[in-house]
Amino acid sequence: MYFDSHAHLNDRRFDGDREAVLQKMAENKVAGMMNVGCSLRSSRDCIVLAEQYPGIRASVGSHPDHADEVCDEILDAYRELSRHPKVKAIGEIGLDYHYEDIPRDIQKHAFRRQLELARELDLPVIVHEREAHGDALDILADFPEVTGVFHCYSGSWEMAQILLKKGWYLGFTGVITFKNARKAVEVVENAPLHRLLIETDCPYMAPEPFRGRRCDPSLVPLMAKRMAEIKGKDPEEVAAVTTENAMRLFRIEKI
Ligand code: NI
Repeated sequence: MYFDSHAHLNDRRFDGDREAVLQKMAENKVAGMMNVGCSLRSSRDCIVLAEQYPGIRASVGSHPDHADEVCDEILDAYRELSRHPKVKAIGEIGLDYHYEDIPRDIQKHAFRRQLELARELDLPVIVHEREAHGDALDILADFPEVTGVFHCYSGSWEMAQILLKKGWYLGFTGVITFKNARKAVEVVENAPLHRLLIETDCPYMAPEPFRGRRCDPSLVPLMAKRMAEIKGKDPEEVAAVTTENAMRLFRIEKI
């Protein structure tokens, strides 16, 4: 049994065939997913989707691309939405310095405010962090009580060790199946299996041999297979342990 720890099945690109994707997912033994919010609007959509399907859980939060929407009213709305029994995390939140459409100080402020909310609600967080390793670690140092997952982990093994020591999980997408994925492979190789999560980040990040195409949660077994290869373990063990990891982190009792 597999679990997709980071999906965006509410994305418009699934509007035409969402039911078929869920069917294919079940056929491939992907029993559930964390459907991740990126803005107040998409967070609401994630909850609607989670209400419709038993295997789906939801998170609420504003992605760094939407950091400029974060204000008291939005945080109150997240606080309210998080009372829903299917909401299991705050995210995705964080810092993304790759494009910098949103100025860094606005991103940092939004990240801090949502970490405060996670601390208040005692919820794990889903962090999106790209090319902002130092600032992300600096901010998190002020929130020792908050942990969660660094999704689509792109940092070094050195940084991974700091996060693992603090109790964080590391999420990996189809990127580990790419030929040039040296850094991610090194982290997967060295990190303990009980702290790794598998995710599709669909509709993005399709694994080989589907690279560049629309990704969906039915492809999780390909990531598990590659992770098993890297770690020299049995794919079924990787599937079982990473599923348990996601359930432990997001406090899901039964998928
Ligand atoms: Ni995402």
